[in-house]
Amino acid sequence: MSTAPHNVQAYRASLLHFHADPAFTSDAAHWHEDGLLLVEDGKVKAAGDYAALAASLDPALAIHDYRGKVIMPGFIDTHLHFPQTDMIASPAPGLLPWLETYTFPTERQFSDPEHAREVAEFFLDQLLRCGTTTAMVYCTVHRESVDAFFEASQARNLRMAAGKILMDRHCPDFLCDTAEGGVRDSEALIRKWHNKGRNMYAITPRFAPTSTEAQLRLTGELAAAYPDTFIQTHVSENPDECAWVKTLYPKARSYLDVYDSFGLMRPRAVYGHCIWLDKEDFARMAESGAAAAICPTSNLFLGSGLFDFEQADAARVSLSLATDVGAGTSFSMLQTMNEAYKVARLKGSYLPAVRMFYLATLGAARSMQLEGTIGSFVPGAEADFIVLDPQSTPLLARRTEKCTNLEELLFALALLGDDRAIAATYACGRQVHQRQGS
Ligand code: GUN
Ligand code: ZN
Repeated sequence: MSTAPHNVQAYRASLLHFHADPAFTSDAAHWHEDGLLLVEDGKVKAAGDYAALAASLDPALAIHDYRGKVIMPGFIDTHLHFPQTDMIASPAPGLLPWLETYTFPTERQFSDPEHAREVAEFFLDQLLRCGTTTAMVYCTVHRESVDAFFEASQARNLRMAAGKILMDRHCPDFLCDTAEGGVRDSEALIRKWHNKGRNMYAITPRFAPTSTEAQLRLTGELAAAYPDTFIQTHVSENPDECAWVKTLYPKARSYLDVYDSFGLMRPRAVYGHCIWLDKEDFARMAESGAAAAICPTSNLFLGSGLFDFEQADAARVSLSLATDVGAGTSFSMLQTMNEAYKVARLKGSYLPAVRMFYLATLGAARSMQLEGTIGSFVPGAEADFIVLDPQSTPLLARRTEKCTNLEELLFALALLGDDRAIAATYACGRQVHQRQGS
């Protein structure tokens, strides 16, 4: 009698993952209508057609039967703010008043470790119920907020990048660092958390207006000293903000050039928004290996502007999608795709659903230099995956029943789906969310 090795799990469903960007490569998707995902010790062992793989299975191995559903890599959200969870959907006429009225007072509360812990737990629950297994997360200026976040993500064994905001001017006193103090705290947090378990540190200057030149200089030096850390910040989000940066940094060629001049453009640097960049900026993004995090729900909510996919693609900038909660209006990457699609239309571009699912998985992994680790089902990748349910609502069931190809199915999921479409979420092969009733 054979016994199944207990560290192997098998999942039968339709399988979707990518090996290339559908914008530039035909047949960029791997699609197995009747597929099998094999996971061993939390890593992908194989992904392919059920018929091809089933014969090699130990007959004693029980197969998780998700037929009728789609298994794909967990979503990767490359820009959002965990301390802004409780202020999502706060009304304000634009970015700068929104920051003053809601954001800074909300972030003040994160000097309290217990508050930070409680919000971090809710935030991670919310990501997992939306199918997001990796995120690039802004904490607040308080070290306690970073400790709380990484402790919570480590307890769930999630692959997360996060960092302490650096901010030493144009903010309330209660959130104001010094240039040296902020960088010293960041270095201590890097040593404490970077590459500890699945945690990764992101050096996080909030944006150019809230940092002095001295702070950006020291931040660039820190980023050079720790080249495998991430860098995250905001750039060219909103016209008023761009005008302000011009007055603060008159010698810079552009807003992006402010960061560039301090050594903050390199691989693993992820720039949020990138709406008002010019051709030279996009070229510099591509050349430096920095990546853009596109935040459509936030950009529409604050009236910031419309991302230019055509220019970004012409320059071959590395792209990903992001919610930017709490300016973003949903934690769901499906709802983020819904709005990204409409932003592209308003700019005269067309964003196929296969491209959007690529951007939310392998595209983001590439932006973070984590291809092979997350974002696809290549053998050896960490088994972070989700089970999408095309029948999760009566409307989705009715619509997807009539879909005749993969693009139509993914498009319906993106336009009509939300957290209800995520039947289950797995991190390193362990179930970390199961939708009620599934
Ligand atoms: N620019 C500087 N800080 C923020 C923030 O918290 N949210 C957004 N959307 N933009 C910013
Ligand atoms: Zn943001």
